[in-house]
Amino acid sequence: MSDSEKIDNTRRNLIVATSVVGAAAGAGAAIPFVASWWPSERAKAAGAPVEVDVSRLEPGEMKVIEWRGKPVWVIRRTKEMLESLKTVTSRLADAKSDVPQQPEYAKNEARALKAEVMVMEGVCTHLGCTPELRGAEARAEMGGDWSGGFYCVCHGSKFDYAGRVFKGSPAPTNLVVPPHTYLSESTILIGEDKKGA
Ligand code: FES
Repeated sequence: MSDSEKIDNTRRNLIVATSVVGAAAGAGAAIPFVASWWPSERAKAAGAPVEVDVSRLEPGEMKVIEWRGKPVWVIRRTKEMLESLKTVTSRLADAKSDVPQQPEYAKNEARALKAEVMVMEGVCTHLGCTPELRGAEARAEMGGDWSGGFYCVCHGSKFDYAGRVFKGSPAPTNLVVPPHTYLSESTILIGEDKKGA
């Protein structure tokens, strides 16, 4: 099976599974899957917050966890990914995240508590498909000005590496940043804000 076939097969499982994905650390990089993980049935049933250990998440890797039946992406963004956020703003529908699709503490360019770690619901704001990660290496396919981000194959919505929607997409708003907080340097609790935040 080719690498791309493996990726496609695994992506089909993202909504029900929990995975770690290498997210194209640089142009042309492959996207290896390195682990799987599930929250407990009891936690899922309760919609409880989910703890995520990001200590082993390498730059460019994505971990997908399930929270309240939705996939949530956790990506340690590379320098290149963060730099790309500055180059696309004029092409975005809501570059400053004025629509409250994120907690107030994530209303910034990276839409994150810590810029290098992205926490995002992997649910398209058009009709709910799961967008795909497409690195800068997909430029030929995505258009000459593509610098990487997420693409929803259902109806063609495009988002940058902070989940901000590009103008002209059917999706009306940026992707949703769920409430989350850091319990330590390397542990994020998804589904709950810091008390008082
Ligand atoms: S559901 Fe994503 S573009 Fe329609």
